[in-house]
Amino acid sequence: MVETVSAAVVGRRREVELVAAAVGAGRHLLLEGPPGTGKTTLLRALAAALDVPLVTVEGNAELTPARLAGQFDPARVLAEGYTSDAFLAGPLTEAMRDGALLYVEELNRVPEETVNLLIGVMSEGELHLPRVGRIAAAEEFRIVAAMNPYDTVGTSRLSSAVYDRICRVAMGYQDERDERLIVESRAQGWSAGSEAAGRTVARAVAVTRATRTHRDVRMGSSVRGAMDLCDVAARLCGLRARPLDDSGVGLDAALMALTGRIRLHEGGDRTPEAIVRELWEEVLAAEQPSPDPPADSLVPAAGKAPAPGGATNPAD
Ligand SMILES: Nc1ncnc2c1ncn2[C@@H]1O[C@H](COP(=O)(O)OP(=O)(O)OP(=O)(O)O)[C@@H](O)[C@H]1O
Ligand SMILES: [Mg+2]
Repeated sequence: MVETVSAAVVGRRREVELVAAAVGAGRHLLLEGPPGTGKTTLLRALAAALDVPLVTVEGNAELTPARLAGQFDPARVLAEGYTSDAFLAGPLTEAMRDGALLYVEELNRVPEETVNLLIGVMSEGELHLPRVGRIAAAEEFRIVAAMNPYDTVGTSRLSSAVYDRICRVAMGYQDERDERLIVESRAQGWSAGSEAAGRTVARAVAVTRATRTHRDVRMGSSVRGAMDLCDVAARLCGLRARPLDDSGVGLDAALMALTGRIRLHEGGDRTPEAIVRELWEEVLAAEQPSPDPPADSLVPAAGKAPAPGGATNPAD
């Protein structure tokens, strides 16, 4: 089963194993990581491999307990009273009945009373709704929540009551190699393989990753930025009749793909454009072979014997 999930997910072997083990052990789960780190991709692949439905709900301030669990249709209640047909099951009730994975995105944006409803279901494995009665969770039912730890607007810290009922998997950014593979595997309108495509992917991933560590940037771009950069560059080079790895095409594609995705620290005076331009130039500069070191730096210092085997001594 792990193999089936891994076939649909680039890298992430360890996380696939952890998530599969937790779900297999009957546990509810929290995937915590920045946007674009493959949380949805992994879970979709897991649900497919387990052959269970995946019910996704977006966490936001409007996700009330009634919306999540379900509510009575007022018109039908007037006509026929509180019958079972008048009850419109919400995603939680459906997922419990069907033994689905209930995927709650952005859990830290969900109102507290709705989180409390989820805590009850996690603890009891059942739900009591007025005039509906008891809804028991099918055996395969699991809650998988996701959230972005860097989110600050419109979010609350999760209570320890949630953390105490849930296993947590941290999903960080993937390494450079895997991010290149992800971009190549999601290529739209161009195909990976040529030298120009390889160079474009490498630059796109490098500049995207560099946004995450730039001193003026609070939140850098996800791998989605690198994907957009490549997909846009592939169109733009056609419009301009330039090669795919033309540096001007790449710069414009980088500006489009990345400037809207980065969040800067408050109070700085630089623009996202200036930062992306700087990073793009750094990526191109890093491709140039470094100039040969001056010849005399290769000569061992006078009075010192060369290190055994000709290796240079790091202390020199
Ligand atoms: N490990 C991966 N394997 C394959 N594709 C991936 C992987 N990680 C990310 N992607 C691709 O990157 C994009 C973002 O991934 P995904 O939607 O799974 O991220 P997410 O963590 O759910 O993001 P968000 O927090 O914004 O919902 C998708 O197009 C997805 O196909
Ligand atoms: Mg997602």
